[in-house]
Amino acid sequence: MSTKPIRVLVLTCSTRPGALGPTVTRWLTETIAPRAAELGAELVPVALDDLNLPFLDEEEPGVHRHEHTRRWSAIVGAADGIIAVTPEYNYGMPATLKNALDYLTREWAWKPIGFVSYGHTSAGTRSVQHAKQVVTTLRLVPLGATVAIRIGDGLRPDPARDRAGIGLLDELVRLAHALRPMRERSAAAPGPLPGSYVRPLTSDDASEVAVLQRCCWVDEALANDSLAIPALHESLEDVSDWLSAWHTTGVWRDGRLLGMVRARRTGADWHIGRLAVVPDLRGRGVGRWLLRAAEAAADPGCHRAELFTGAKSLHNIALYHSEGYQTMPPAGPEGTTTLAKPLR
Ligand SMILES: Cc1cc2nc3c(=O)[nH]c(=O)nc-3n(C[C@H](O)[C@H](O)[C@H](O)COP(=O)(O)O)c2cc1C
Repeated sequence: MSTKPIRVLVLTCSTRPGALGPTVTRWLTETIAPRAAELGAELVPVALDDLNLPFLDEEEPGVHRHEHTRRWSAIVGAADGIIAVTPEYNYGMPATLKNALDYLTREWAWKPIGFVSYGHTSAGTRSVQHAKQVVTTLRLVPLGATVAIRIGDGLRPDPARDRAGIGLLDELVRLAHALRPMRERSAAAPGPLPGSYVRPLTSDDASEVAVLQRCCWVDEALANDSLAIPALHESLEDVSDWLSAWHTTGVWRDGRLLGMVRARRTGADWHIGRLAVVPDLRGRGVGRWLLRAAEAAADPGCHRAELFTGAKSLHNIALYHSEGYQTMPPAGPEGTTTLAKPLR
C-alpha cells in the first residue's frame, strides 16, 4: 500500500453572515492538528462560503462546464477524506452542503466522511442522519465516530469534545488508508486478474516494491546459488530512486502489489527488468501480461527489447523464449543470460 500522506478536507458548510461554523472549524483544526501530524495526514480547511457555488447550474452530472465546478472538483478530487463541519437547519443538513454534494459524482467515491455537527438540543445530529443517507449514494463512506456539539453550552474548553475530535480523525485516517485501493481501482485500468488494476509505481510504493523484489529474488538466489544479485541488496532509498527514474507498471488488488516490471531506454534498446510476481499467484499469466505491457510501452526509437536473468533461472528463460526472446551473447553481469527480441 502506498505511503502517500492522507489529505483531509475540513469543510465549513454554513455560509450565513455571522455563522458559527468558522469558529467550530477553528476549534477542530487547532485541536486535531498535532494528531494529524503524527498520523501523516494533511488538513485542508475549505469554507463553502469562499467557493461561491451557485445553485447547481451544470447540465449533466460529471460534466464540468463552469469554472466554479472545475475548482470544486479539483479540491474534492485531491482529498482522501472529508470532515464536514455542519449545522442543523430545520432538522436537516443545510442546503449549501446538499448543493455542494450534488455538484460532483466520482470525486466523492470511496472517501470516508466524518461529521462535526452543532445545533440546539439535538446538537445537529438530525442534520448528520440526513446527510448520511445522501452521501452513501455518492459512495462516500460515513464514519461511526462523530462529534456533536450543543451550542447552548458554547465552545468552552471541553477535554471530552477534544478527545472526540481526535477520535474522529483517527477513524477517518484509518478508513482513508483502507479505502485507498477502492479509490485507486476506480481511476485505474483493469489488470490481468479479476479485481486487479494497473498503475505506474512511484516512490511512494518503495516499501511494497522492496518487499516484493526481496521475496522474488531470494528464489533467484537459490536457483543460481548466488547472492550477488542487485535486487537483494538495494536499500529503500535505492528502490525509491529507480522508481522515479524508470518506466514502471504495477498490478494491484485490494491494496496488495501482485506484480511489477520496469523498463527504460539504454542506447537503442528497451531494457526490461525486475519482472516479479507474488509467489501465490504465479502460473496465472501475470508475468506474461506484465512483460507484454513493458514491451508495449517501449520508446518508439527502440527496435529491440533486451533483458537478462540468472543463467539457471530456467523457468524465467522458458517464459522469455515462449514470448519470442532469443538467447544472446552475454551482456549482463556474470552468471546471467541475456535475451532479446525485435520490437514492432
Ligand atoms: C434556517 C435555520 C434553521 C435552524 N434549524 C435548527 C434545527 O432544526 N435544529 C437546531 O438545533 N438548530 C436549528 N437552528 C439553529 C442553529 O443551530 C444555530 O443558529 C447555528 O448557529 C447555525 O449554524 P451557523 O451559525 O453555522 O449557521 C437553525 C438555524 C437556522 C438559521
